[in-house]
Amino acid sequence: MSTPSPTMHSTRSDIFDKCNDFVEAEEARAGGWYPYFRPIESNRGSKVVIEGREMIMAGSNNYLGLAFDERVREAAIRAVEKYGTSCSGSRFMNGTLALHEELEEKLARFVGMEAALTFTTGYQSNLGAISALLGRNDHVVTDKLDHASIMDGIFLARGIQKEISLHRFKHNDMADLRKVLEKIPPAGGILIILDGVFSMEGDIALLPEIRALADEFKARVYLDEAHALGVLGATGRGTVEHFNGRAKPDIMMCTFSKALASIGGFVAGSARVIDYIRHFARPLIFSASMPPAAIGAALEALHIIGQEPQRVHRLQTIAKKMLDGFGGMGFDVGTAETPIVPLHIGDNQKTFLFWKALFERGVYVNPVIAPAVPPNGALIRTSYMAVHTDEELDAILNISEEEGKRLGII
Ligand SMILES: Cc1ncc(COP(=O)(O)O)c(C=O)c1O
Repeated sequence: MSTPSPTMHSTRSDIFDKCNDFVEAEEARAGGWYPYFRPIESNRGSKVVIEGREMIMAGSNNYLGLAFDERVREAAIRAVEKYGTSCSGSRFMNGTLALHEELEEKLARFVGMEAALTFTTGYQSNLGAISALLGRNDHVVTDKLDHASIMDGIFLARGIQKEISLHRFKHNDMADLRKVLEKIPPAGGILIILDGVFSMEGDIALLPEIRALADEFKARVYLDEAHALGVLGATGRGTVEHFNGRAKPDIMMCTFSKALASIGGFVAGSARVIDYIRHFARPLIFSASMPPAAIGAALEALHIIGQEPQRVHRLQTIAKKMLDGFGGMGFDVGTAETPIVPLHIGDNQKTFLFWKALFERGVYVNPVIAPAVPPNGALIRTSYMAVHTDEELDAILNISEEEGKRLGII
């Protein structure tokens, strides 16, 4: 084979060309409407300080307000004092603590499954469990609005093993799910994966109908409870409890970064399935385990949820107040039913202008544009916590109404 000449090399593009061509963020910063990566200077739950100003936080996933709870903070400190700041290795090797196993046992009991397995983030939980479960000739079926970490788990699976077929159905559309299942060829297993609560839309998966279809087509159900645990059901046990135990998934995943006031995640299911994932999930085997402070915090948050269902009830009352409030003013809240209340706007620029207006008046929310939502589906994602006061909630509603009218959104 001949050696390429220097002239051939001169036509090669530079790997960094795309970085130099990316100017959108710079333009938004220069225009003063860049909303992302804003540093929070201090955090007291429903109030935060940004750019030296106190603001009402209406854009956090700290649903039960436990991330600032004194008991949770102390539990994190106690764990650090006993085990140090890092596990310095993966679960597989030197990174398993007695504390990981205690948390796993308590989680399995809480969600009514045989076994649970913790990962270092919720994202890694989906990557690890999904890529471990999908094998050659298998089929994976997803709702079109499933979270990115679910899709990335499928991409990882398909990177490891090529013959995995992906099928997607229209959001929460059971007729479309049936159509998709009917077309799947007979060889290989089927895994249906869904969010219990959809992270941008704030609506709930139709679990009983999905379970019935899964049983009819001999498929397994994988439920991501990131925004459902601590949020739905009389005791915060999530989507299954919301539907009064009428249907159960085969495997459940959740993160600690939302109601559970920490960082990390877990999957729960039958002991055999969890043991399989434990030995085949690359993000578990090749990454350091959840650190002691995070386990201590999650354990205490789980304990508090078990003891204080009134927090879950308060959150559900707040969700209803905000859904009714925004809906009554003429905002489009779509199909939301949870403390995630999206204000659907559609146009990116209008969404950023509305975000800026709220920010300047002391209300922190999140603008969401494609690809996190479908094209032309820009929205303001507002989300609430059990620790919001009625005064704070009324201020959010009043300011949103004034600015929404001024910008012609309502
Ligand atoms: C539905 C869903 N699944 C998984 C994750 C990933 O969890 P984490 O942020 O804890 O890694 C998220 C977080 O945004 C999520 O919304």
